[in-house]
Amino acid sequence: MENSNIKLINEDDIKYILEHINDTFSCSWNNEQFKKVMECNSSITFILKKENLILGFISINKLFDSLDVLNICVNNEYRHKGYGTKLMEYAIQYSKDINCFNITLEVNIHNTNAINMYNKLGFKIVGQRKNYYFNKDKNTYENAHIMNIKGD
Ligand SMILES: CC(C)(COP(=O)(O)OP(=O)(O)OC[C@H]1O[C@@H](n2cnc3c(N)ncnc32)[C@H](O)[C@@H]1OP(=O)(O)O)[C@@H](O)C(=O)NCCC(=O)NCCS
Repeated sequence: MENSNIKLINEDDIKYILEHINDTFSCSWNNEQFKKVMECNSSITFILKKENLILGFISINKLFDSLDVLNICVNNEYRHKGYGTKLMEYAIQYSKDINCFNITLEVNIHNTNAINMYNKLGFKIVGQRKNYYFNKDKNTYENAHIMNIKGD
């Protein structure tokens, strides 16, 4: 993980992600979704870079004293190497810096890798959203856990 750093996303990064590496992220955000988050005053996206490679991103939204994780994704060639944790830890520190003491996210109940990562970081399951995600392959809706961590 040496030499990796986290910075705010810009238009060129979005272009690069969509043209070159969105497939390797396999988390299906399109241009509109990235732009919508960029244009929203309460939202912010950070990318994790190693040299010129974008390895992952996290998008968060601030609502009063809470932060919502809108999306987090690591390039699938670089998964399970600690980069997702690095992005989440950055977001947790950022939330403390801006006095948000409560972070919430939704995660597909079948997404064990992500659930394991959130558990390791101290998130707890606090509820469920029925039929929150649409699974294109199975043509069905799937439930989400709502997970939360409270800061000091
Ligand atoms: C979820 C995601 C962001 C995790 O990022 P990552 O860089 O792979 O995660 P890390 O390397 O930091 O792993 C942290 C912990 O998560 C769990 N985990 C991650 N990948 C795992 C895998 N392939 N198998 C089992 N557990 C895994 C483990 O508990 C791991 O801790 P460990 O290294 O001690 O085993 C990444 O898998 C991803 O981009 N997935 C697709 C998009 C997605 O599902 N986003 C979540 C939306 S809610």
